[in-house]
Amino acid sequence: MLRANQDYLKLPGSYLFSTVARKQREFQAAHPEKSVIRLSIGDVTQPIAPAIIDALHRAVDEMGSAEGFHGYAPDLGYEFLRNTIAEQDYKARGCEVSADEVFVSDGAKGDCGNIQEIFEKDCRVAVCDPVYPVYVDTNVMAGRTGTYDEATGTWSDVIYMPCLEENDFAPRLPKEKPDLIYLCFPNNPTGATITKAQLQKWVDYANENGAVIIYDAAYESYISEADVPHSIYECAGARTCAIEIRSFSKNAGFTGLRLGFTVVPKELTVDGVALHGLWARRHGTKYNGAPYIVQRAGEAVYSPDGKEQLKKQVAYYMRNAEYIRTNLAEAGYTVSGGVNAPYIWLRTPDNMTSWDFFDRMLEQAGVVGTPGSGFGPSGEHYFRLTAFGTFENTQEAIKRIKEM
Ligand SMILES: Cc1ncc(COP(=O)(O)O)c(C=O)c1O
Repeated sequence: MLRANQDYLKLPGSYLFSTVARKQREFQAAHPEKSVIRLSIGDVTQPIAPAIIDALHRAVDEMGSAEGFHGYAPDLGYEFLRNTIAEQDYKARGCEVSADEVFVSDGAKGDCGNIQEIFEKDCRVAVCDPVYPVYVDTNVMAGRTGTYDEATGTWSDVIYMPCLEENDFAPRLPKEKPDLIYLCFPNNPTGATITKAQLQKWVDYANENGAVIIYDAAYESYISEADVPHSIYECAGARTCAIEIRSFSKNAGFTGLRLGFTVVPKELTVDGVALHGLWARRHGTKYNGAPYIVQRAGEAVYSPDGKEQLKKQVAYYMRNAEYIRTNLAEAGYTVSGGVNAPYIWLRTPDNMTSWDFFDRMLEQAGVVGTPGSGFGPSGEHYFRLTAFGTFENTQEAIKRIKEM
């Protein structure tokens, strides 16, 4: 008898953000007179920068002429974009990454979720706790995570690396030996980062133990401190143990346009097999390329005007982050993040559970945040606020939280 994929059926409950949205809807229906401010989701709010809009217009016009028309894009991305990425994201920072190691995609979420396909089903996965849920859920779908324990909110075959206040929200090297290690810095949800020296330890550990690091650098453009690495390839030896994933969503507002990329170095082998070839095969078979007009828009992100405009956009969000962080700290909250990332991670007052604090914020302040426990057991008693709102809404939300 045909059955649905049993691994999918193992996924617990509803997705974190759907629950948050449902609670907001219910509250709004019960209190139509109250305005609700969402500091919960990771979507940007500023419009696309003019240099990128110009590039989009030009590319759209090209598509309307016989000479300028572009059909299927090359599977791995147009060379103009891959060259620009290799030059500006990597060579300019002293990292050795060539254009043919860059795989352009329609965003980091798909890449984060799909990358596990090129590894054996029995490989052991390690994740930070709290974690961006995609890393875990896609391994659940692949049947790699064992059984779920409702009481602890953990999977039997996943190695969790707690990121707590006492270790500055940085993971420690795990006692059990993982094969695949997911790291995300600057981090979603904690907003924490690690230094280059700390990241070097992970690279050394992975090389010594034959593990592969999946390094998600979606928030790279928010880094403001000098000793925080922008790429894992700044670390010696990363080319033999690390895959890096990047997004245009948060540095350039492409959450609706969709563009990202993954770097797989040619030296990276597992059991004698080059992962570059496997990812190329996977990409070529299951993906038909990001749209030409969007890749041209991506190229404009690196133009002098584009860079200037996007620097201001990131600064706009980081002003919100600073505002949230300093005001909540002044009001007596224990806060972290918000310096190299658009996320503020705060400890719930009076040891409230994350969901109780969510309800209180919604009912008393009309502000929606994200309960830390939704990101993993070590997120319990924490709460995530994002800096992606408008400055006015951010100010108003913080005023209301302070009055609670
Ligand atoms: C850590 C992390 N990786 C990846 C993504 C997804 O990025 P994209 O919009 O490129 O799919 C997000 C989005 O919030 C994220 O927080």
